[in-house]
Amino acid sequence: MIKGRLCLAWICEQNANVPFSRALKQASVAGMNSFDEMDAFDGASLSSRAMAARPTPYLEGLNPAQREAVECLNGPVLMLAGAGTGKTKALTARIVHLLNTGSARTNEILAVTFTNKAAREMKERVGGMLGQPAEGMPWLGTFHSVCVKLLRRHAELVGLKSNFTILDTDDQVRLLKQLIRAEDIDDKRWPARMLAGIIDDWKTRALTREALPASEAGAYNFRGPALYAQ
Ligand SMILES: Nc1ncnc2c1ncn2[C@@H]1O[C@H](COP(=O)(O)OP(=O)(O)O)[C@@H](O)[C@H]1O
Ligand SMILES: [Mg+2]
Repeated sequence: MIKGRLCLAWICEQNANVPFSRALKQASVAGMNSFDEMDAFDGASLSSRAMAARPTPYLEGLNPAQREAVECLNGPVLMLAGAGTGKTKALTARIVHLLNTGSARTNEILAVTFTNKAAREMKERVGGMLGQPAEGMPWLGTFHSVCVKLLRRHAELVGLKSNFTILDTDDQVRLLKQLIRAEDIDDKRWPARMLAGIIDDWKTRALTREALPASEAGAYNFRGPALYAQ
């Protein structure tokens, strides 16, 4: 029986079909400043050449399964193992391996965690392995922080402004109460929390006001859809 919670460790790579000029840039970011451009034409891939040239101390001390996960850079790897068995160690080594081989730049690596503590730990561990702070990794963070960053960057695609605010549960209910009162609805009979629950359900199902099925029209005394639109 596997003890502890199972953890899914995932890294998204962006290294397919990297144009030559960009590959060169990646290589220099990875510290290959003495790279001769003509060397790229002699048949060996950039990453294998980089691998040969750079030491890989982070691979030492990994067990065979960890090492396999770290060195398999083409495509996804799923690590399922119990708590304390070395998933984070392998994941951080894989990030360092991506950087060290010039397969990706720091801003091309997406690494998400569930908790702030885990994100902090991951940054520290990557920094420790790199021998410098991992500050240049904008996409290493919790699901929440990474998603909000994406949303702010592309807010206009979902009809938001990039400076949108995030309300906590109490503020959500307070705001809904104001809307409900402005609509002259008796919030004793139709509590704001009930509307908050209905809206939460619609958002979870990715339903916009326009996409609400007819069967939802009666929600919150038939006022739900209109209030949702506000
Ligand atoms: N192959 C290994 N050899 C020795 N120690 C290891 C190895 N893999 C992981 N560890 C150590 O075991 C501890 C737990 O590893 P960690 O990667 O945090 O596990 P997990 O993320 O699965 O909970 C850490 O202190 C880590 O340094
Ligand atoms: Mg872990």
